[in-house]
Amino acid sequence: MSKSKTAPAAPPAMTTPAQLERLGAHLRKLRLLKSGERLEALLQEAAAHELPYAEFLEQVLGEEVAAKTSKNIAMRTAMARFPFVKPLETFDFAYQPSIDKRQLLTLASCHFIEHGDNVIVLGPPGVGKTHLAVSLGLKAIEAGYRVLFTTAASLIEKLTKANAEGRLEEKLKLYTAPRLLIIDEIGYLPIDRVGANLFFQLISRRYERGPMILTSNQSFGAWGEVFGDRVIATAILDRLLHHAVTMNIRGNSYRLKDKLTAGLVRSHEDNASQPGGEI
Ligand SMILES: Nc1ncnc2c1ncn2[C@@H]1O[C@H](COP(=O)(O)OP(=O)(O)OP(=O)(O)O)[C@@H](O)[C@H]1O
Ligand SMILES: [Mg+2]
Repeated sequence: MSKSKTAPAAPPAMTTPAQLERLGAHLRKLRLLKSGERLEALLQEAAAHELPYAEFLEQVLGEEVAAKTSKNIAMRTAMARFPFVKPLETFDFAYQPSIDKRQLLTLASCHFIEHGDNVIVLGPPGVGKTHLAVSLGLKAIEAGYRVLFTTAASLIEKLTKANAEGRLEEKLKLYTAPRLLIIDEIGYLPIDRVGANLFFQLISRRYERGPMILTSNQSFGAWGEVFGDRVIATAILDRLLHHAVTMNIRGNSYRLKDKLTAGLVRSHEDNASQPGGEI
């Protein structure tokens, strides 16, 4: 009796230890680490389900791409130096009705970065300015951009120090290199003349090249006082606002959410009706 030429579906045992060893070495050399880890399990699954060759290859490469993408996102998130990591999905829009949710979801698609537009978020303390800036920064990272977060105070301190040490150019490059720069808390700390000048230099460098997200507790009209110089503040705003989306958040501090509910503090609306109560 002649032997049939068609062999039965290959069981997992058909992969010899030597073959596994060689495959593992190839994957390590190609830095396909996830595939290296999962190789045996994937081969067993493929054999058990008799997967077509293309489907098997798609599964292996798909898992590798997903692993590399999430590693890359985690690395760029760490490099962005966010004060906290809170995705947009954790933002409670119902608590802050003055925010146009549709506008924010449009911003989350990151077209503003492609177009080189700035986003400026204004509002009193605790309304979610930093949260939204971080959330948009995370969306930018997911979309493949490099992002850097800083507060205005830290930025100016670093530029001032670098300037005094003759390393200003180097430091300015650090803040111009990331595709998206987030400058948080403009207006909380006074800025001296040198600081305002250095801030202006950075804004000029990024103007029409690198998009930014800026947050402030002060209206644009008060930026003259923030920068201690009306002329510089006007020049800064002129460049920032040329291509910009401004979001004005009016509402209660999320930090006081529970106290407001318990009636321990007055709401923003109640304060606004008092003389001098509006922020
Ligand atoms: N609408 C919201 N939904 C969920 N969490 C929120 C919301 N608004 C603010 N928070 C949370 O409340 C805290 C304060 O918000 P955030 O730091 O963004 O405020 P801010 O406007 O930047 O205030 P400040 O001007 O004092 O810096 C954060 O922990 C933030 O995640
Ligand atoms: Mg903040």
